[in-house]
Amino acid sequence: MLTLREVADNPSALTDRVVLADGPEVTFRPLVPGDAEPLAAFLAALSPESRRFSTHGGHDLAAAVELCDAIARYDKLRLVLEEVPSGRITGLLELSLDLHPSDIDRYRRSGIPLTATDCRFGATLADDHQGKGVGTQVFPLVADVARRFGRRRIILWGGVLTDNPRAIRYYEKNGFRPVGAFTGADGTRSLDMILDLDRGF
Ligand SMILES: CC(C)(COP(=O)(O)OP(=O)(O)OC[C@H]1O[C@@H](n2cnc3c(N)ncnc32)[C@H](O)[C@@H]1OP(=O)(O)O)[C@@H](O)C(=O)NCCC(=O)NCCS
Repeated sequence: MLTLREVADNPSALTDRVVLADGPEVTFRPLVPGDAEPLAAFLAALSPESRRFSTHGGHDLAAAVELCDAIARYDKLRLVLEEVPSGRITGLLELSLDLHPSDIDRYRRSGIPLTATDCRFGATLADDHQGKGVGTQVFPLVADVARRFGRRRIILWGGVLTDNPRAIRYYEKNGFRPVGAFTGADGTRSLDMILDLDRGF
């Protein structure tokens, strides 16, 4: 089973080249310490809607540096899509290998006990890369990474806002099933969804 330290020491273990349906190539790879600037450019360019749908701590260089500093320090594994040959980051795919107590609580109330073989996932693509099937094309790579960390199910990190139909459709078509809706501290409604990796994804 892979560890975050091993990935940080050898990012090529999780690196893949993907030819997108509309022609260009992207590299799917772990975030590395040298990514702060292109990651900041990616975050800064996100539209207000993408920022609302996909919550990040910030959208500037400081936020990007924080994400790079977190590599192999906590439970997070961040993967990026990097356009070839420009080096532009066009997607951030985030796995959290530890569960939050609030997730454990909510799922328990829905009759689904979470375990140490579950993980959390969230995806954000650059606005000009959304709605073109890119997220679906790379999802099998994400699922494979989760499996290599010994995970058997994936839940949505913080759920998905109920007024984000594209993301809900995206998760559904990639095998996630709805678990239940909940209201966040800010009053927004979100949906919990879970994917069973043993069901052949
Ligand atoms: C969510 C996201 C990662 C999905 O990746 P993607 O590459 O855009 O998704 P795909 O194109 O593979 O699939 C989207 C699906 O939603 C459908 N869709 C698009 N807009 C829709 C809408 N308004 N209502 C319902 N379905 C919609 C698409 O037709 C497609 O389904 P189909 O293949 O059955 O036709 C990406 O759109 C994104 O980064 N969005 C902004 C941030 C975000 O919402 N993140 C999720 C936070 S939980």
